[in-house]
Amino acid sequence: MKTQTVETPRSEQCYRILVVNAKGGCGKTTVATNLCAAYAARGVAVALVDNDGQGSGAHWTAQRPADAPLVELASSGRPALDRIIIDGLVHDPEREAGELVAMADLILVPMLPSAIDIRAGERFITALMTRPEFRAAPLPVGVIANRVQHNTPAQAHLMHFLGCLNVPVAVTLRDSPLYGEAMGAGLGVADLFDVRAARKEMTAWRALIHWVEAQLPSRAAQPRPLAAGRPSREARHGMPERARLVSGGQGPAAAGGSKGPQPHRLSA
Ligand SMILES: Nc1ncnc2c1ncn2[C@@H]1O[C@H](COP(=O)(O)OP(=O)(O)OP(=O)(O)O)[C@@H](O)[C@H]1O
Ligand SMILES: [Mg+2]
Repeated sequence: MKTQTVETPRSEQCYRILVVNAKGGCGKTTVATNLCAAYAARGVAVALVDNDGQGSGAHWTAQRPADAPLVELASSGRPALDRIIIDGLVHDPEREAGELVAMADLILVPMLPSAIDIRAGERFITALMTRPEFRAAPLPVGVIANRVQHNTPAQAHLMHFLGCLNVPVAVTLRDSPLYGEAMGAGLGVADLFDVRAARKEMTAWRALIHWVEAQLPSRAAQPRPLAAGRPSREARHGMPERARLVSGGQGPAAAGGSKGPQPHRLSA
């Protein structure tokens, strides 16, 4: 994996979420950018690491409208971050397992409901999770069932396979043209709270953030020294505490800023 080292200054409880699969085109960049947008809509300090090899994430952040909640590239040197989302492509999980485990606190694996993708996903997850490096420092891993059309044989096949694999499904995302359109505009569905079709998708992103946040403490809740007299996290960064982060919805009230995010539309 040609990795960008994630050495951006991080706040104490900054977690790194790696979106990865050895299979191309399964939705890694779509998931990474939408997750960034969903966190940013909640006022969370989030940055994207673009490891996808094609510069898609960098392009997305460059396209992002100035009035959309801020998502930066992790290399841009923002002083304190709460979440870092890594858009990653891995070629050989057996050789790169150690690197993946070292760079992340949680791994999300998007998978498409096709026979080829299911086989590739199975190989990837099995190769990763059976490596000694992973066993020595296991991370939460969740599958994102992506581009699912409900009540189809393909969906049933994917869900059956995931049940056998014994890896949790973090969320199921529908197949929607919104994702491609939003990506081209530097947006995620969380930015499109004025667009009716996007509001349907937002339920999934709320569910995904909820799932992710529920997994993170299991690894990161190691004792941390308490600095005396330290101002609260909210006071330091104006960011939401975790409880608010998980329960907060999208939209102006959730953004933390005085003005709040502006509604975005996709050009026809
Ligand atoms: N849920 C979805 N609904 C509709 N289209 C989607 C969805 N998820 C991804 N796509 C589309 O699938 C294509 C591939 O998605 P994406 O670029 O996110 O995959 P990737 O895994 O990052 O690919 P690569 O391996 O080339 O980096 C894009 O055109 C994207 O818009
Ligand atoms: Mg990509």
